[in-house]
Amino acid sequence: MYPLILTILSLPAVWAASDGQNGEATWATKYNFCGGVYQSPLDFHHSILQYDSTLVPIKVNGYNASITDLFTLSNNGHTVSLSMLPSMYIEIPPFKYFASHIHFHWGDLASPKGSEHCVGGKRFAAEMHIVHYNSKYKDVSIAMNAADGLAVLGILIEVGSFNPFFDRMISQLTHVQYKGQESQIPGFNLQDLLPERLDEYYRYEGSLTTPPCNPSVLWTVFRNPVFISEEQLRSLVTALHCDDGNGSDPVEMTNNFRQLQQEGERLVSVSFREGVVMAVALASILGSLVIIGVVCYLFNRKRRSKKNQPKKVVYTLAMATDENTSKV
Ligand SMILES: *[C@@H]1O[C@H](CO)[C@@H](O)[C@H](O)[C@H]1NC(C)=O
Ligand SMILES: *[C@@H]1O[C@H](CO)[C@@H](O)[C@H](O)[C@H]1NC(C)=O
Repeated sequence: MYPLILTILSLPAVWAASDGQNGEATWATKYNFCGGVYQSPLDFHHSILQYDSTLVPIKVNGYNASITDLFTLSNNGHTVSLSMLPSMYIEIPPFKYFASHIHFHWGDLASPKGSEHCVGGKRFAAEMHIVHYNSKYKDVSIAMNAADGLAVLGILIEVGSFNPFFDRMISQLTHVQYKGQESQIPGFNLQDLLPERLDEYYRYEGSLTTPPCNPSVLWTVFRNPVFISEEQLRSLVTALHCDDGNGSDPVEMTNNFRQLQQEGERLVSVSFREGVVMAVALASILGSLVIIGVVCYLFNRKRRSKKNQPKKVVYTLAMATDENTSKV
């Protein structure tokens, strides 16, 4: 299975706009999907969110690896990735999805905001993706070509206190500084990398955020972030390089997040009410106030234009009110 992880991740991806040849803006010229529909990431803003009561809590299975299982941490030239075990899976009805690998997106020291998904315009420090593929396909590289092929868990990362679980990976980054390098890590419980409240998440249909941008991903982005320390974030942002280290000009691996994409006709389902319902309620109250305001304005204008016969207007209104009352 591991070579397949390399297949999906070894595709060229250069984000920097300064690289006129391969920068993100040129992806679509080589990969049609990148310029197509159902692209990711998105900004989760109120006008595209809709509460969905059928979204059940996410349950991960087999994530508790034994210390004798080995994970492979590797630098593929555009992110750092951690292999997962074939016994790990999630279920999102009606499908079961096997785990493939974990990888990360981040910013740089000057601008340490590098999450891909944003919430109400807010970009987080970094983002972790746990990639799974539909069990009805033989492997992840076949699955990525099917509309229902992949299910990715997105975890937003924010700066807070030291995180001992993330440190199992972060402390090893010095061993994978250059492209092509690998390091073995003793197994641990990957569930410890997940945020609080696996019942609260955003769900939508989108794409891979790196070429070839296949629109084959059922996204689940958890509402709550996980926290790592400022020091840990600095390690992630500065430790890695996109090149193999043999050249004279090292290329730092920074800002490997994709720009926000258009939601188009898509809505994002949310599993939690709080916040979302409030916004909808506020919007409808505001809308009602505007309508009442307009009606009052028109009514006043009409009254002023008929100020020569004020009594008649009042009388007509009174009659209309009586009529309505008697009908009720
Ligand atoms: C994970 O597995 C280890 C044994 O391999 C066990 O001691 C530990 O309690 C398990 N953790 C959870 C959360 O199930
Ligand atoms: C870079 O150098 C290392 C040893 O210093 C070597 O193992 C590796 O193959 C080299 N990579 C390339 C692409 O030349």
